Amino acid sequence: MRAALYTRTGKAGDVLRVLDLARPDPGHGEVRVQISLSGINPSDVKRRDGQTPSRIDGFQVPHMDGVGRIDAVGPGVPAERVGQRVWLWMAALSSSWGTAAEFCVVPQEQAVPLPDHVPDELGASLGVPALTAHQCLFPDGPLQGTDVLVAGGAGAVGHFAVELAKWAGARVATTVSGPAKAELASQAGADLVVDYRSQDAVAEIRAFSDGIDRVVEVAPAANWELNRAVCATGARIVAYSVDRPTLELPLLPSLTSLVTIRFLLIYRAPRNAVVQAAQEVTAAAARGALTSLPIHSYSLSRIAEAHQAVEAGVTGKVVIDLRK
Ligand SMILES: NC(=O)c1ccc[n+]([C@@H]2O[C@H](COP(=O)([O-])OP(=O)(O)OC[C@H]3O[C@@H](n4cnc5c(N)ncnc54)[C@H](OP(=O)(O)O)[C@@H]3O)[C@@H](O)[C@H]2O)c1
Repeated sequence: MRAALYTRTGKAGDVLRVLDLARPDPGHGEVRVQISLSGINPSDVKRRDGQTPSRIDGFQVPHMDGVGRIDAVGPGVPAERVGQRVWLWMAALSSSWGTAAEFCVVPQEQAVPLPDHVPDELGASLGVPALTAHQCLFPDGPLQGTDVLVAGGAGAVGHFAVELAKWAGARVATTVSGPAKAELASQAGADLVVDYRSQDAVAEIRAFSDGIDRVVEVAPAANWELNRAVCATGARIVAYSVDRPTLELPLLPSLTSLVTIRFLLIYRAPRNAVVQAAQEVTAAAARGALTSLPIHSYSLSRIAEAHQAVEAGVTGKVVIDLRK
């Protein structure tokens, strides 16, 4: 099978190679999936360039996320699963076999049946972004009737955070930069879209909400003052990304606001919570509550360019099309 891999970390053009490899066989409890689309996340790129240390066991086929069809099952997996169309999550987390290959093996619960009417492009985009958005929003209780602020509502995680929060009955405000991202956030269903570069975000969000209950935060340091200004007493801020090395908190106002900051790294979330989240994300997709961002599709032979597009912060989702 054709597969992209790296054996050492470094720049995309220096370390990514496309080779012919023997197809992996599914082990006990595993399925093998013929991949259609492989979704790329910033974390795939950070692992490949060494920013995020991760062990390379001889070689690494990159990418956590993807969509495809099960073509073989290992012992302990019902034979009826062969032929199922599935979306994959965290394929490369503890395995050499990521989704940037014609075939990939994963534990069977990481291959989630995808309803026929959900497009491949959405299936390949769900993994890390939708699970992260889910785990930012749902562990802290019901969202019905709450006011949620999503920082960066046109980013991959932010997009699904807007859609999942709306699905769960929240009023959603989001911040973006520029008209193209504003349009995407509106299409995702945000009730208020603020361009944080050209508008007064505090004034706009205060006019929209008497107090934000939940924040899904991509830039916790840059947005600390904004969050402090718009949050309700007892609000919960869930930070899933690092924009600066440190966050300095003014202690007295933080204490009196009763705010809670929770940090999330989806790769370290309890496995049973992620398995459950994958089911709920699939249900939301099945009901039409989730949509795909604009897709930027590359062939496997152009994987280095695809990684560079992610590094450049392209708007939308970058995928490798294994059928090309
Ligand atoms: N902890 C976890 O489990 C986890 C999971 C997934 C992703 N991540 C990390 O989270 C980050 C985002 O991932 P992603 O896949 O969503 O990336 P993405 O698709 O590139 O989206 C990032 C978004 O954040 C926006 N942004 C940046 N600074 C902002 C600010 N101050 N206010 C509002 N929006 C801002 C960007 O837009 P503008 O710059 O145009 O505003 C962009 O739309 C990456 O660093 C990724 O590694 C962490």
